Amino acid sequence: MASITLSNLSKRWGKVYGAKDINLEIADREFIVFLGPSGCGKTTTMRMIAGLEDPSTGEIHIGERVVNRLDPKDRDVAMVFQSYGLYPNLTVYENIRFPLKVRKVDPATHDERVKRAANMVELGDLLERLPRELSGGQRQRVALARAVVRQPTVFLMDEPLSNLDAKLRVSTRAQLKNLQHELQVTTIYVTHDQIEAMTLADRVVVMQAGEIQQVGTPTDIYNHPTNTFVAGFIGSPAMNLVNGEIADGVFSAPGMQITGLASGLSASVTLGFRAEDAAVSTPGPEAAISAPVYSMELLGDATMVTVRVAEALVSVKADKDYRIGIGEPVGFSISADKCHLFDRASGDKIQA
Ligand SMILES: Nc1ncnc2c1ncn2[C@@H]1O[C@H](COP(=O)(O)OP(=O)(O)O)[C@@H](O)[C@H]1O
Ligand SMILES: [Mg+2]
Repeated sequence: MASITLSNLSKRWGKVYGAKDINLEIADREFIVFLGPSGCGKTTTMRMIAGLEDPSTGEIHIGERVVNRLDPKDRDVAMVFQSYGLYPNLTVYENIRFPLKVRKVDPATHDERVKRAANMVELGDLLERLPRELSGGQRQRVALARAVVRQPTVFLMDEPLSNLDAKLRVSTRAQLKNLQHELQVTTIYVTHDQIEAMTLADRVVVMQAGEIQQVGTPTDIYNHPTNTFVAGFIGSPAMNLVNGEIADGVFSAPGMQITGLASGLSASVTLGFRAEDAAVSTPGPEAAISAPVYSMELLGDATMVTVRVAEALVSVKADKDYRIGIGEPVGFSISADKCHLFDRASGDKIQA
């Protein structure tokens, strides 16, 4: 059981910041996901928490303790990496048991603990196999069981599912979520996959260029992105973003107009709206956008219609039975109360 606090945490190599002034409070038993594109500092931050990297500045608390000066082994954290890091000559059983041996846990308890951890990730029947006799998904589950077996106070997982194929990733993801719920261990999980973040996290920490952009529940960051980076990163498809001008409650861009927005504002803005917050309509002056269809994609549960407007591609989710040809004229209606306004220069959300 442990909360984690990161205070003014930075890691710098010469001029390069791996992580910059990270401030974050993670509650006991919380499932936190660090999300962001490759190179944004997720691994660096995690490695500092694990003790594998010395911070340039700042403090790390795990529970009541400042752990900056503690060795990794004294921090009571267990890490799972993208590469499973299994010992090739040891059986599944011995791989899972390994941390217990290293930590000199009472041998009389090993068998029960190894079997319990293995059963949690459904490896009970594979204990005598060698890693090379396992599939990728099974190997990743061995790595998970090995992390689980010694009941650490913190789990750190760095893109643990990214070597798995799409289908296995989804099922292992569900298993992981269930496991964390069962174990009630504070978990930090790193991924560049926004769907993984949204499905697993109690709270998501969105990062870019070493800095935290936003911290919030999945619903929070989906519904209230704090800037265009978060808006453009979260969601599938990501939020539509169009540059234009707002004046007297009207947003205008070449080929697009939306009325009924925050009046009193007169500025260069980026307007955002989600594909599901708009609808296809009759093309013409009544429509917010009227343009030829750029593409139509069948998603199964919806049909996505995309047009090009003001140098942006803008998509709307239509009914699953909706059909239209490329190049045919289409209208989009967009309700003003579902629109997000961002300052064009800074990208920051404009407070209504
Ligand atoms: N040992 C290192 N020396 C110099 N720069 C590093 C080192 N490790 C990471 N970086 C840099 O720090 C930044 C963040 O890296 P990383 O934390 O691995 O990103 P992520 O895990 O989000 O993909 C990157 O620009 C990376 O090149
Ligand atoms: Mg990484």
